[in-house]
Amino acid sequence: EMLEKGGFDHFMLKEIFEQPRSILDCMRGRIYPELGQVQLGGIKAFADKLKNIDRIIIVACGTSWHAGLVGEYLIEEYARIPVEVEYASEFRYRNPIITEKDVVIAISQSGETADTMAAIEMAKEKGATIFGICNVAGASIPRLTHAGVYTHAGPEIGVASTKAFTAQVTVLTLMAFYMAQQRGTISDVKMRELLTELETVPDKVQSALASNELVKYIAGEIKDASNCLFLGRGSGFPVALEGALKLKEISYIHAEGYPAAEMKHGPIALIDEQMPVVFIATNNSSYEKVISNIQEVKARKGIVIAIVTEGDKKVKNMVDYSIEIPDTDEAFLPLLATIPLQLLSYHIAVMRGCNVDQPRNLAKSVTVE
Ligand code: G6P
Repeated sequence: EMLEKGGFDHFMLKEIFEQPRSILDCMRGRIYPELGQVQLGGIKAFADKLKNIDRIIIVACGTSWHAGLVGEYLIEEYARIPVEVEYASEFRYRNPIITEKDVVIAISQSGETADTMAAIEMAKEKGATIFGICNVAGASIPRLTHAGVYTHAGPEIGVASTKAFTAQVTVLTLMAFYMAQQRGTISDVKMRELLTELETVPDKVQSALASNELVKYIAGEIKDASNCLFLGRGSGFPVALEGALKLKEISYIHAEGYPAAEMKHGPIALIDEQMPVVFIATNNSSYEKVISNIQEVKARKGIVIAIVTEGDKKVKNMVDYSIEIPDTDEAFLPLLATIPLQLLSYHIAVMRGCNVDQPRNLAKSVTVE
């Protein structure tokens, strides 16, 4: 088993460190920056259909649902198609309104999640076109869907999803660009620019991993907390949700992810000098707004840990701990900002003596309702 872990103490850590590679594998043969083109063979047969669909409904569970939320931002931004993101377990029992002009995207690492399968079957009966985003080739979900795109992240052994999540986000990014291309909602120049930047993301993920030792130190400082808040805005919000989920899954610390601006409608009541608050505070469009949210937490003596863009000074001077990630286009922020959060929950869980790869009560895939 030591051999399988490739010298890492746990599969989870190995899989976190595999991400520069898994993201690259996921993009391989699919992006052509010089041409400003994305090619997705798996959904090519539906290229025309994508020109006049009314809506996209993303269905998933757990971490895959968080990837779906990132997808919503990207698809709406670039392809200008309205997107709804649904928990498969709720969607399947809600008698939802679905038409033949809807595309349902089912996201599942394992391709075996019972609720997601049931949601697909229902939407299919109502005439929707179903795409899958799965990691396991030949699993049940890829067989149920009309078309799909594999994530190619390789086997994920740690129960808490890491590299499968970033691969799902990568595929959704490619799908958003692909749809934008079909619908003419993006210029060639912009597409070339975005794809050129996307090509650098695996190296930037590698740089983000260099924060490992610093993150471990911060983990030691906050490991005894009983609660933790994760806050972000825009696509930083789903990143915050995923950061909180990771922490609760493997360290058993109660954690909540929230849109930073919603903090004042509840979570702010919890903030005192014991409460670590993790902010996604990179230099994107919501930077200034996030800064004012950080000030609100500091005024109440919360312990602030901020994920910032390399070279940032403003946030750094306000917070207790900051972790740098490389600068990138806002579209790719979730791929980088997720990395330190994965490392943070990993180190906290190890320090608390938890079984990181097989957390209590959780299963890698939930094949019963
Ligand atoms: C379980 C796993 C999670 C996963 C979720 C959905 O809860 O522990 O890591 O995100 O199922 O699984 P899927 O295979 O459908 O992505």
